[in-house]
This record gives sequence, structure tokens and C-alpha cells, in this order.
Amino acid sequence: MLEPKLYRKDFPMLRSGKSMQGKPLVFLDNASTTFKPDCVIQAVAKYLSDETSNAHRGDYDLCANMDREVELTRERVRHFINAPKSSEVVFTSGTTGSLNLVAFGYGAKYLHEGDEILLSEAEHASNVLPWYKVSEMTGAKVRFIPLDEEGRLTKENLSKAMSDKVKIVSLAEVTNVLGYCLNLKEFAAIVHSHGALLSVDGAQSVPHKKTDVSYTDVDFLSFSGHKLLGPTGIGVLYGKYELLSMMEPFMTGGGNNAKFDMCGDASYLAPPMRFEAGTQNLEGILGLRAAIEYLEGIGMSNIEEYEKDLKAYAVKKLQETGMAHIYNPHSEAAIVTFNIKDVFAQDGATFLNSKGIAVRSGQHCAKILMDFLGTVATIRASFYFYTIKEEIDVLADAVSHGKEFLDAYF
Ligand code: ALA
Repeated sequence: MLEPKLYRKDFPMLRSGKSMQGKPLVFLDNASTTFKPDCVIQAVAKYLSDETSNAHRGDYDLCANMDREVELTRERVRHFINAPKSSEVVFTSGTTGSLNLVAFGYGAKYLHEGDEILLSEAEHASNVLPWYKVSEMTGAKVRFIPLDEEGRLTKENLSKAMSDKVKIVSLAEVTNVLGYCLNLKEFAAIVHSHGALLSVDGAQSVPHKKTDVSYTDVDFLSFSGHKLLGPTGIGVLYGKYELLSMMEPFMTGGGNNAKFDMCGDASYLAPPMRFEAGTQNLEGILGLRAAIEYLEGIGMSNIEEYEKDLKAYAVKKLQETGMAHIYNPHSEAAIVTFNIKDVFAQDGATFLNSKGIAVRSGQHCAKILMDFLGTVATIRASFYFYTIKEEIDVLADAVSHGKEFLDAYF
């Protein structure tokens, strides 16, 4: 089993004795963002201090070096997700940027009135709102696949919702509030049997488990750098090359065109460059590579195994308090969504903050799911491979005193 203490020393945010509200910081908001190890910070700093130049825009050595670094990173990402070709890896600003690129680059061009876009009720705003826009633009209808009574999306419900009208299905592999995980290979087979495409929001899955797009056969996969130890502002869209080649660039500008003239004619480069208009987030790209290499050094299967153990431990400890209503005790991911009994979620999170504990509260950008859960807001504690059981003990101890928060008002 992975030993988190071996890795915590690599993270300035974890080894510096950071405190919050005068208490040792317990960071349990890793589904929102993650801490950065030294190697990522150094990769970013090296670009800023020693390697600054643009990429794909100059004939001098510094720029040629950056061209190589960007393409090396693309190849590293390809290997990390087991994509067939590095030209299927597009750099974006993050999962939101990637999902918008699928919606506007593919959906807006190829969907029509009478077509359907299928989502689930548990999707994050970034995998719902771009499709609403595409629906407005094309007349295609957005429909939601119902969840089962626990909040899981089953392949039976997917099959029932499929028809020949469905042209694209866009789903989170791991949902950001409940943390249920899809079997992508089975889901892709069902979607493909109806001639539709499967686009996957991998924001909460790619950082935590092994990803293999060749095996699962998904058509698109979106994920962010900052949720897997990398910098903010960098993300990836993987897309099958034949699909990327059919897509419109969602943004245009320098670096993605082949030529343009005064008559308004323009032609664009082949993927991936077609989708990388403007100077890219180069320090982000270098930081992303360092993050991926660090994660590969630990092993994604080791991370997944350890996080399952953490999740089970957290559920048990919170249940023992008798004070937590847990919404997802049986989901796979290292995310526990709960409320402290009789305490409003945001009050609960403020109380936990007073104990040095960082969690997210509210609707977590998944507003449709709150109706399903029958609540207006929840607290979400989310872990990573550097989370230790002692931190979960601190959370459980605080939750067991949750009612004290109310005393402050009487
Ligand atoms: N998408 C991130 C979350 O779920 C920010 O918290």
C-alpha cells in the first residue's frame, strides 16, 4: 500500500507547517485543486527564469528548445492516457476549455434539429452549459439520463435513454460530488452501438486512476492540470484524430491558421495546432509534464488503491460520529459528500475552517444534482494520495462537535 508520508515531503504546502485559523492546515478539497510538488514548481520556475521564449514562432535556439519541450510534453501526455497518437492531444486552459471545445468545435458544427445530446443529472456545469448553448444554436435537444436511487449512472439507464436520435453523450467518468465511477469501456460500446459519440469529463478521474483511451475507446476525454498536481490554466483535450480533423477551431488567431487574406478567406492547420490559437500556457505545459512524470513515478494503480482505502476509512469515521449524513458512502472515488446533522452546509464548512480544515460546501457546480439529493447544499471532503488518515481523524473529530457551531448563535 502506498505510504503517503514518503511523498508529503515533496510538497511545500504540506511540509511547511502551514496553519489556518491558528490550527495545522488539513486540506481536504482536492477535488477542487491539488497541491504542487517541488518538481512542478521547479519546472515552472525554470521556464520563467531560464527558458522564456515563445513556441512555434521563432527560428532562434531558445524558441526551438521550447518547440521541443511542448512536443515532448504532448508525447508524455499521450503515453499517460495511452492515446494512439500525440497529435490527438490538444492543450487547452483546463477541463472547461476542453469540454467547450468539443461542444462548439464538434457539436455546433454537426448537430441539427431532431438530434439529441445526452447528459446525466450529476454533471458539472462545464459539461451542461456548453451543451445548452449548442442546443440554442442548432435546435438539438439536451436530455438527462436518470440516476439510480443512490445517484449512480447505470449502463441499463444509459441503454434505455439511447436511440438513433442521440448523436453525442457527454458524461463525467467520476462525478465531482458523489464520486461514482463509470465503466467507460462498457459505456462507449453502448453509445457506439447507436452510432453516437462519447465525450468524457475526466477532471475527477484522470488524476486518480489509470487512464487508457485506447482500451476504453472513448471519443473525447477532457481533463485539467491543476487537479493532478500541475499548474492552473492548463488542460488537455484528447480526441480521436478523425474527429479532431472534422472539427472547427473554437478560437482562432496566431499559430492555428495556414493562411488568410483580405477577402476573408482563411484556412487552418491540422490538429492539434488547429485548436491552439494564441501563445500557449508554456509554463503550464512544462509544469503539467513534471506533474505527470511525478504521478507515473508513484503509479496510478497505487494511487487508486490507496484512495479506496482512505474513502472507506473516512466513511467509517464519519459514520461513527453519529453526526454526519453521508450521501455517497458506496461510491468509488475518494470524495465524501455529507452534511452535519441540523447544520447548514456552508455554516458547517465555516465551522470546519475554524478547526483548520479546508472543504468545499454548496452545490459544487452540479446544481441539477441537488434536486436529486433533496438538499440545497452539501459539504464535500475530497482526498488525494498525500492525504493521511490522521487528517481524516481531525475531520471526524470536528464533525462530532458540529453542534457546537450552533452554540455560537445562542
Ligand atoms: N470542479 C471543481 C470542483 O468540483 C472546482 O470543486
